[in-house]
Amino acid sequence: MPRISVRIDGVTYEDEVEARLLFVHYLRDKIGLTGTNIGCDTSNCGACTVLLDDHSAKSCTMLAVQADGSEVTTIQGLAAGNGAGSAEDWHPLQTAFHTEHGLQCGYCTPGMIMASVDLLAENPDPTDDEIRHGLEGNLCRCTGYQNIVASVRTAAQEMRSRTEGAQQ
Ligand code: FES
Ligand code: FES
Repeated sequence: MPRISVRIDGVTYEDEVEARLLFVHYLRDKIGLTGTNIGCDTSNCGACTVLLDDHSAKSCTMLAVQADGSEVTTIQGLAAGNGAGSAEDWHPLQTAFHTEHGLQCGYCTPGMIMASVDLLAENPDPTDDEIRHGLEGNLCRCTGYQNIVASVRTAAQEMRSRTEGAQQ
């Protein structure tokens, strides 16, 4: 079986994996990072989105062997210091999804947030249309998307004000 070495949420994992193993199954079943969800079997829903070398990727559309040598961030590694237990450590997107009611069942939320991290890295001040366009690969069955767009807009404002504050 092929060997892989991949850094996930700040931890390096070295494993032998079956060549056909999907990366999402590696994350969930082998590593136990079940915050990354599986919401479809058609590569449509985006619930499985992670950052692969800083770009969003659907982890159900790639093999574990394709992650070899990469730096991966999942929803579980997004908070500062991986401190998911403390709201002060949350990423601004995590906070905004909470304050703007951007989730109901929460199933799509890990993927929405990870796709939004990539979106805001590319475009720190998106219009609502640009947010909708950037998230069109992620499906939500609950919210009607209004509050998701508001959450991303609020997080973008917060991230811009932090950047401006750091520059002064
Ligand atoms: S589980 Fe990956 S796109 Fe739906
Ligand atoms: S909050 Fe339920 S699927 Fe999006």
